Amino acid sequence: MDQNQIEALVDAARNVRQHAYCPYSHFPVGCALLSQDGKIFTGVNVENVSFGATNCAERSALFTAASLGYRPGFIKAIAVTGATEDFLPPCSICRQVLVEWADPETPVFLTRNDGQIKRLKLLDLAPYSFTQMN
Ligand code: THU
Repeated sequence: MDQNQIEALVDAARNVRQHAYCPYSHFPVGCALLSQDGKIFTGVNVENVSFGATNCAERSALFTAASLGYRPGFIKAIAVTGATEDFLPPCSICRQVLVEWADPETPVFLTRNDGQIKRLKLLDLAPYSFTQMN
């Protein structure tokens, strides 16, 4: 991925944050997934009064792509953004979902308020993960 593609993906994650539904945490998060066929799928956190029924931005983006017919292996890169001092990583539930859908080498771009972007691999976020039952 070149720098322009990375910035376009991160911008998509930043821009979609305006649609977050987060009346409880007031912590909008945006995620953008780049597909192998060059499309960008975005998602936001959608909270619920029960708290536990909240859906994170990462799963919202992924479930949108799944609903359109995309299947494991479709993800080329992942970007996550929130208004945070330090880099905002996906929660552990989202990591578990992502490892089923993306290769361990998939680049993950994390952002922080000062505009810096950190590049990791999904494997860095979810080593030794549960991926199959046989
Ligand atoms: N959240 C996300 O959407 N993604 C993350 O990576 C971290 C947390 C959301 C869940 C909840 O709506 C709010 O941020 C506070 O935890």
